[in-house]
Amino acid sequence: MKVAVLGYGTVGVGVCRMLASARGLSLGPVLVREGKATEPFHVTSLDDILADPAVEAVAEVMGGIEPAFTYAARILESGRHFVTANKALCAAHGIELDAIARRTGAAFLFSAACGGGVPFLHNLALAAESDSIRSLSGILNGTTNYMLDAMQSSGLDYGGALKEAQALGYAEADPTADVSGLDAMRKMQLGCAVAFGRLPQTGAACEGIEHLTAEDVKDLQARGLTCRLITRGRPAGKSVSAYVEPTLFPSGAPECSVRKNYNMARYVGENVGPIVLMGQGAGRFPTASAVIRDLSCVLQGQRAMFPVGCSAVEADNSGEEHPYYVRLSPADSRRLPIAKLLSAGESVRAVTEPVSVERMHAIARIIRKDGGDLFFAALEE
Ligand code: HSE
Repeated sequence: MKVAVLGYGTVGVGVCRMLASARGLSLGPVLVREGKATEPFHVTSLDDILADPAVEAVAEVMGGIEPAFTYAARILESGRHFVTANKALCAAHGIELDAIARRTGAAFLFSAACGGGVPFLHNLALAAESDSIRSLSGILNGTTNYMLDAMQSSGLDYGGALKEAQALGYAEADPTADVSGLDAMRKMQLGCAVAFGRLPQTGAACEGIEHLTAEDVKDLQARGLTCRLITRGRPAGKSVSAYVEPTLFPSGAPECSVRKNYNMARYVGENVGPIVLMGQGAGRFPTASAVIRDLSCVLQGQRAMFPVGCSAVEADNSGEEHPYYVRLSPADSRRLPIAKLLSAGESVRAVTEPVSVERMHAIARIIRKDGGDLFFAALEE
């Protein structure tokens, strides 16, 4: 199967190199930006790809919603298979693209959009066919895991850790999506769509690691706690809960052993119980390998990952609750039900009573809107 590639950045170069030796696949034209064509197989217009009748599939690794969505729609309308690593595209327009693919008989696969090389969505799609999935959770962003690990184990500061993660090709073009938790949330949106047929397009709660300081890291370490950015989703009535937040684990918890750019993705099936998958969640070849895996699945006949009838819902996080570790001003601490004061001074460090995810994130928004500074992290019970 001749495969065209859209994008020639970190992952695009990896996909092209892997296509050169992948079984049953061959490299077709590669779309690059105007003025960036340096190889004979480079083209600068999608029309050049659509004009080639030998191209049967297209792998998109350019990122961003536009022009990726317009391109994806045209490719699927032409009956060609479309495989992508683009979580922003799939979270925003996946349901529409799935509908076009079903109408034209083309494949629309996106397991590379979640977990880098970790075959999370791939296995989830299969598991959801035969078991009832109860919940999803895990470390789904390689950049922030790399940063948290570096800050905790090598004492690197936030800016230094982010620079390293960017240099290693883990971060998005705009790393705000990584550090704000948005990238991990998009992956959970896709996980919920694949597992539950409900894509939480609005209402998800998203807290990243931007407010974590070197002082916080020191304090947590002194208490024997390790911070990880955890993403969770599960059915909630007719909707789903879906949220991302820093979470603290006691030493010895499996999450503490997830180092560098690794991800750890977990699902619980009614019959199979918990299944955990771990591997490199970001980077050129781990992510390229997931794109190639999806193309192999196309060769084997797979056409879709969303279940039939998948629909957009508003997330409901009112039923999820945890005690939280918080660092904030003494005045702001009065906005929360404090169970235990850990330290006082210019800043207060404390543990709250169990608070719903919806309420904790809403209070954080209010504190910050009023100019306050706050770090919070769920305490894993
Ligand atoms: N920026 C993403 C991450 C890339 O760090 O996880 C892989 O999805």
